[in-house]
Amino acid sequence: MANVTFSSPKMKKDITVYATAGDSQTLLATAKSGNIPVNFECENGECGSCAVEVSVLSDKQPMGMHLTEKEKTVLKLAGKITREQIEEAELKDIPPPWRLACQYIVRAEDILVKF
Ligand code: FES
Repeated sequence: MANVTFSSPKMKKDITVYATAGDSQTLLATAKSGNIPVNFECENGECGSCAVEVSVLSDKQPMGMHLTEKEKTVLKLAGKITREQIEEAELKDIPPPWRLACQYIVRAEDILVKF
């Protein structure tokens, strides 16, 4: 169970969507369920249009940090992630701020999503 709060200049105010545990749904699916206007095109980790900035709202070790290979490639091409950030994600489990909403799986942790 997680509260996913979306924040964007496209919206009048921040909106929090409640994601239930065990759904294993993507952040993009969570956004759609709350009618949040996150950009998307391919929904397959290839176009990069769904890039969002994610921060975890707790002091605990972040859970949803696993970068897919597609995220690494697309975010690197878009200049939203550095090679160092990829290494930190792989070696130290430190998640980078920018993610692809269509690839990021929502976990049981509260997050803030900016786009
Ligand atoms: S919608 Fe294309 S990368 Fe997510």
